[in-house]
Amino acid sequence: MILVAGGSGRLGTLIVRRLAVRGLGVRVLTRDRRRTAHLEDRRVEVVEGDVRDGGSLGAALAGVDTVVSAIHGFGDVGNVSPASVDRDGNRNLVDAAASANAAVVLMSIVGASAAHPIELFRMKHAAEEHLRASGAPWTIVRATAFAEFWLDLLDQTAGASGRPVVFGRGINPINFVSVSDVAALAERAVVDLSTRGATFEIGGPQNVSFNGLAAALQSASGRTAPPRHVPRLILRLLAAVLGPIQPNRARQMRAAVAMDTIDLALAPTDLQRRFPELPVTSLADILSRR
Ligand SMILES: NC(=O)c1ccc[n+]([C@@H]2O[C@H](COP(=O)([O-])OP(=O)(O)OC[C@H]3O[C@@H](n4cnc5c(N)ncnc54)[C@H](OP(=O)(O)O)[C@@H]3O)[C@@H](O)[C@H]2O)c1
Repeated sequence: MILVAGGSGRLGTLIVRRLAVRGLGVRVLTRDRRRTAHLEDRRVEVVEGDVRDGGSLGAALAGVDTVVSAIHGFGDVGNVSPASVDRDGNRNLVDAAASANAAVVLMSIVGASAAHPIELFRMKHAAEEHLRASGAPWTIVRATAFAEFWLDLLDQTAGASGRPVVFGRGINPINFVSVSDVAALAERAVVDLSTRGATFEIGGPQNVSFNGLAAALQSASGRTAPPRHVPRLILRLLAAVLGPIQPNRARQMRAAVAMDTIDLALAPTDLQRRFPELPVTSLADILSRR
């Protein structure tokens, strides 16, 4: 049995589908089973629990030999944070897996490090460190930004004006990867025991600025209007003002400034040499699938 924490999410859903198609037993951990309604046809088990509450994970782990962590606390749903979910929640999940003699496949982020300017990256680093020291067999999959997420966000912010919102100047090169390529690697990490003890980095074939991503979306959508920009100064002011009342939103504003300023490009990796069968989806193909 494979437990997918975050199996209701964008990446988790694709991992669950891939594992279920293989005929493997899959159980999804979610805080609210209504968020797994789209998986009903897949004959997957669903168990409710919250990684922030280690005591709620016992039933989820029963009979499990591999745990996939595809969770994060960077979003708006619930009172979550990278510290409570990515660091502490993953610690609970890893400890529960180690007690159950289960392996762990941890979804992390390219660039995760102790001193990274983005809190989420620091908390992923803490999760990686805890997993490596846990005694549980492990595989870590670090991905760059999911192209589909950012394209959806640009599309949503375009609204009636038809002009997507870009945070900051939008000229910083960033690596975007297709979430479906990440799911293929995560599936491989689950089923291929030779990946235990390895950390893989997966990115897309090109580094693209947010302006470039917005232009590609506009062109694919038959729109010509340029994006609107939220200046960095406004993002910093919003982060300061929102900090005490909407910490999640403030965190996102700080991350937006970081994404506009720090190095988030990715040089080609040797992933393709090791796993030549894995898909490498171009931005053009991602856009044509939308
Ligand atoms: N999005 C990106 O650009 C990106 C880039 C690199 C790596 N990643 C990593 O890839 C993974 C999937 O990301 P995604 O964007 O696909 O996520 P997503 O769609 O936003 O889904 C987040 C998932 O986290 C789960 N979750 C959050 N808090 C939880 C808690 N307290 N207890 C249990 N589950 C909790 C949610 O489950 P419920 O709401 O059902 O409880 C949901 O399934 C994450 O580990 C993320 O850090 C993402």
